[in-house]
Amino acid sequence: MPRHSYQLNQPVFLIGFMGSGKTSVARKLARKCGVASVDMDTYIERRENRSISEIFETDGEEAFRDIESEALTELLKLDPALIACGGGVITRPANCEAMTSSGLVVYLKVTPEEAAERISDVSTRPLFQDLSQARSRYEEREPLYEELADLTIETAGRPIPLIAQELQRKLVQEKVLCQQPE
Ligand code: S3P
Repeated sequence: MPRHSYQLNQPVFLIGFMGSGKTSVARKLARKCGVASVDMDTYIERRENRSISEIFETDGEEAFRDIESEALTELLKLDPALIACGGGVITRPANCEAMTSSGLVVYLKVTPEEAAERISDVSTRPLFQDLSQARSRYEEREPLYEELADLTIETAGRPIPLIAQELQRKLVQEKVLCQQPE
């Protein structure tokens, strides 16, 4: 049971590199505050009835990006939720435009080294096969994450509950997460 009842008045997009904790933080805060959360990769897997790795293997990255953009468009039609985005959602300018114009974008910042430690099974991450590949992808994306973010939260060395707590505090401060009257 949530300890307090809150309401989100706009969607919150959690962005950041693979392994930054987007899914876990969204889930933790959603439970704590009694708001909805959606994991974009899970949404895509259910929609396509196959895993992210299968989509990459069979159809390739561009086809995955098309599906990802369609999924984002669909999620924008739902009631506001905490949306844990795939790490590469920021690679399409139309996705960036859709997110910034419809909600609040929160960047969960992690280093590729720490991300590698957190990702226990790389077979589920077709684009995180080794650290040097991850480092160069991170270098390309970091400026995009920074540019897009309304808020940034440092996740290095911090447990999920603490990150969720900081996110809660910031969303309340921004008046995006509002406590419901009893
Ligand atoms: C990707 C990140 C993954 C998933 C896909 C591609 C990326 O999501 O969408 O494997 O390009 O960074 P997570 O960030 O949740 O791992």
